[in-house]
Amino acid sequence: MVDTNQARRLVIMGTGGTIAGRAAQVADNVGYVAAQVGVADLVAAIPALAGPGLEVEQVAQVDSKDMGLAVWQALTRRLVFHLERPEVAAVVVTHGTDTLEETAFVLQRVLQPAKPVVLTCAMRPASALVPDGPQNLSDAVAVARQTREGGVFVVCAGQVHGALEVAKVHTYRLDAFDSGEAGPIACVEEGWVRRFRVETPASGGVARDEPMLSRFLAAPDLPRVELVTSHADAGGDLVRALVAQEDSGASRPLRGIVVAGTGNGSVHEALIAALNEAQARGVQVVLSSRCAQGRVVPHEGLAFDHSAGLAPVKARLALALELLGR
Ligand code: SIN
Repeated sequence: MVDTNQARRLVIMGTGGTIAGRAAQVADNVGYVAAQVGVADLVAAIPALAGPGLEVEQVAQVDSKDMGLAVWQALTRRLVFHLERPEVAAVVVTHGTDTLEETAFVLQRVLQPAKPVVLTCAMRPASALVPDGPQNLSDAVAVARQTREGGVFVVCAGQVHGALEVAKVHTYRLDAFDSGEAGPIACVEEGWVRRFRVETPASGGVARDEPMLSRFLAAPDLPRVELVTSHADAGGDLVRALVAQEDSGASRPLRGIVVAGTGNGSVHEALIAALNEAQARGVQVVLSSRCAQGRVVPHEGLAFDHSAGLAPVKARLALALELLGR
């Protein structure tokens, strides 16, 4: 099989994470510092990637637990620039695993890229005796070269996930990501991508919302949306404290709350009462589920608007992006 994409240019952008982490001991896979090694060095450590047609750019160097709007804006600006270059076929982004699914979601929503944007990561630092980063990065490059459709993809441990479904599900295992019931889009076998499904919710040529992209790039902050969880013995104090902050004027205005409900979007009655009070004050409430699988199936009697299948952290971002436009 001939890979006709070999000649097209690829950009690899670094943002930090464990893939760029370093520990004092090669045997230490947990006591490392993330975001230490430059992306140029990560690429140079993989001889098979050497050669023309590949560009490398360091956009940020952060532990992704600290990810936020400033890095997303910088990354989005550089992605817009590179994706508009006709000679660039795709962009690979190295990223920490901890908030990878949030960055993937934001990029998918604001960019709707017509070319592949492939995020990859590692669970072990670059200094590990047996690091997983080089294989993940090689696989991400293979996906970038062999994928024709646009969209944001996540590559980890030989699997290719879609931005809307992917979630980190394990604290330590190398295959830390899962796409729930949707399953992965593809796998990478010895450098070749094998598709399991052609259509992904992220694909399908949805036109980019240019005004939303402009608002996102110009925003000093994302609208404040907090995440609360319903659980046994829950109460309304946390939500009431958030709303009370408004009155003190001490913080950014609270615009929304995503509640991670139990099961099919049920919420403790004490929490519902406080959320209703918040909603009456103009705070938008969206209901998601704390269950790792499934979605809130709409039915009469749902306490609040539902998240259309998005997990709580993604529902939070979806609401913040929506509120940017209001
Ligand atoms: C991070 O998310 O930046 C650190 C953890 C990881 O990449 O696994």
